[in-house]
Amino acid sequence: MFKSILYFLNPILLQSVENPASQQADRINKLFNYFNVAAGAMLLLVIFLIVYICIKFRQKKGETDEPVQTSHNKKLEAAMIGGPVLLLAFFFYQTIATMNAVSPSVPKNRQPDIVITGHQWWWEVDYPGANVVAANEVHLPVGKQLLMEMRSADVIHDWWVPQLGNKMDLIPGRSNYLWLNIHKPGTYIGACSEFCGAQHAWMRINVIAQTESDFNKWLAANAKGAMQPTDSVAIKGLELFQSKSCAGCHRIQGTAATADVGPDLTHLASRHTLLTGLMENNEANLFKWVSHPQKIKPGAHMPDFNFKKDSVNAIVHYLEELK
Ligand code: CUA
Repeated sequence: MFKSILYFLNPILLQSVENPASQQADRINKLFNYFNVAAGAMLLLVIFLIVYICIKFRQKKGETDEPVQTSHNKKLEAAMIGGPVLLLAFFFYQTIATMNAVSPSVPKNRQPDIVITGHQWWWEVDYPGANVVAANEVHLPVGKQLLMEMRSADVIHDWWVPQLGNKMDLIPGRSNYLWLNIHKPGTYIGACSEFCGAQHAWMRINVIAQTESDFNKWLAANAKGAMQPTDSVAIKGLELFQSKSCAGCHRIQGTAATADVGPDLTHLASRHTLLTGLMENNEANLFKWVSHPQKIKPGAHMPDFNFKKDSVNAIVHYLEELK
């Protein structure tokens, strides 16, 4: 029973602002809780006053007169104006202080550690200087103040991983910046939070936070070019990938496929999910996707190519080797 409740709650806890996991989220959470406490106290005060007044001033048996009429209580008026003014001043100051702490301006010459580009409907993840381009699964080191540059290739998207702090819009033609310092390793999930077209709902985010040494290992492995196909089916798969339309949109480093319209597939097989979290990354699902993309993710920019079954088999077999 307890387990099934936990199972049900897990996705909620995992995407809760009340479960902060970064320096920035801590600050925002603190401010949020100040608001919660103030609002809660106000609610209790109003409930108490209503109940108290109802009991204290109710008409007693035998009383028929109007109650005593009063007006112009200067002290009460001063408290009713002064109280809210003080409260608002406190929250104004706290809000500005939190904004400054969470989003300080970017120093000149500070290069971003990660560049995230929103596409309809997937996330491109660049690691400048490391020759690594990933997609959808965002590997980040913990305990470092990271600067993330946010861009868009088409329409406005919105990055939001609730446990990691604030949202950030990705707007065509400009760069926005997000600071992020994650406390501990783990997987943090989020989603695009700005309606961006047919598959907006399938624009999930998976942040995989790792210790610095694990992250560096991952980065080094992903900086390498793609594995060379080892058997005849995979070799045929690579040939098909390059001769059919695949290479027109995708890059596989170390091959002739260098386009950057769709996700980089150099290390596709090392990812856990396909299509921004739509399904598990395995051979059967990859087969379904390459066979009929429009059935799996209608509206996605990959058309149905109506490949023959053994062509799909060869392509998928090759992609499965891209560890
Ligand atoms: Cu991208 Cu909604």
